[in-house]
Amino acid sequence: LDDLLGVGVTGRRVLVRSDLNVPLQDGAVGDDGRIRASLPVLTKLLDHGARVIVTAHLGRPKGAPDEKYSLRPVADRLAQLLGRPVEFATDTVGESARLLAEGLADGELLLLENVRFNAGETSKDDAERAAFARELAGLTGGEGTDTEPAGAYVDDAFGAVHRKHASVYDVAGLLPHYCGDLVRDELTVLRRLTGEPERPYAVVLGGSKVSDKLAVIESLLPKVDTLLVGGGMCFTFLAARGHEVGDSLLEQDQIDNCRRFLDEAGDKIVLPTDVVVAAEVAADAGTRTVPADAIPAGQKGLDIGPDSVREFAARLDGARTVFWNGPMGVFELAPFAAGTKGVAEAVAGTPGLSVVGGGDSAAAVRALGLDESSFGHISTGGGASLEFLEGKELPGVSVLEAS
Ligand code: 3PG
Repeated sequence: LDDLLGVGVTGRRVLVRSDLNVPLQDGAVGDDGRIRASLPVLTKLLDHGARVIVTAHLGRPKGAPDEKYSLRPVADRLAQLLGRPVEFATDTVGESARLLAEGLADGELLLLENVRFNAGETSKDDAERAAFARELAGLTGGEGTDTEPAGAYVDDAFGAVHRKHASVYDVAGLLPHYCGDLVRDELTVLRRLTGEPERPYAVVLGGSKVSDKLAVIESLLPKVDTLLVGGGMCFTFLAARGHEVGDSLLEQDQIDNCRRFLDEAGDKIVLPTDVVVAAEVAADAGTRTVPADAIPAGQKGLDIGPDSVREFAARLDGARTVFWNGPMGVFELAPFAAGTKGVAEAVAGTPGLSVVGGGDSAAAVRALGLDESSFGHISTGGGASLEFLEGKELPGVSVLEAS
């Protein structure tokens, strides 16, 4: 970004791709972590006199306008947090967007409506994506002429860099393009996990599905000293050990994979020893803590138990590098929050680099009132940070690196 500021942005329309994909509750922004993470780049550009056009997605609408995925509530919160007015276009590349983009003065900001309301954004058809990208780029005034300043593109949406989408990938080829500070900082930290991490290196994985984490487990298992598994996904591992899991989440088709991981990893993989169970997922459900190898029929495991938290904390004690992705239980409901909280505190207490991998785990840190500054880094990218650790190419990064 400093390169762009060095060239000068006053009077130029700069298209910024941010990740503003935040949870909405009753039509208002819930956890606003991603909006706050996007502020530094926007503020820098505005302070330097750029005319900023922000494009972003919310949720997964099906390529057409859908009011429940509107970015309007995000525009309101963004304005509050920026402490400046935010213009909001009711479309992405239509008349509203074009008129407002043309009317921007130096140091003013426009947020476009959800970029995924356009089928071209996520299309698998390269030509369709490219056509939409041209419309987005056109909002900046394009490459410019000798007399008119050219537009520019900044990718600051770390959480979306793993998507080969028009606003993340194709548009970069159409404008002078720059890497936002958030993307740069995220990559710098994550590279410390894939290079020569300081040992002991421990990874904590949770969340509901083993199938979402297969690739990352494959790639991390040979590199880590300890892999702690909690959350809904631990029940498929427990089943692979031959335990009854009652009505807990179970991915039958992943049992063989889990068995293979357990065979390969020996005692590197640590599973919960006790589990908090209930008959239903409800804040007022009657709960019990039971041994992880004796979950009664009709009961669902909804959090790891206190013995497991102690065991996980003991394994994390002294770790010099920790990566944590995925809650240990249904932390949104008080009776099932203690596991996630206890493990988060243990991660925060480790002496070396601790990285929280985006999405639900980052939201859990804030929802449970934990001190964000006690973690080395809280990533804004869930899927993006996992794909980085899997060693996959990230289209939004490679397109910036290519030039
Ligand atoms: C995320 O929430 O991880 C990012 O915003 C990307 O969203 P997506 O998984 O819907 O592409």
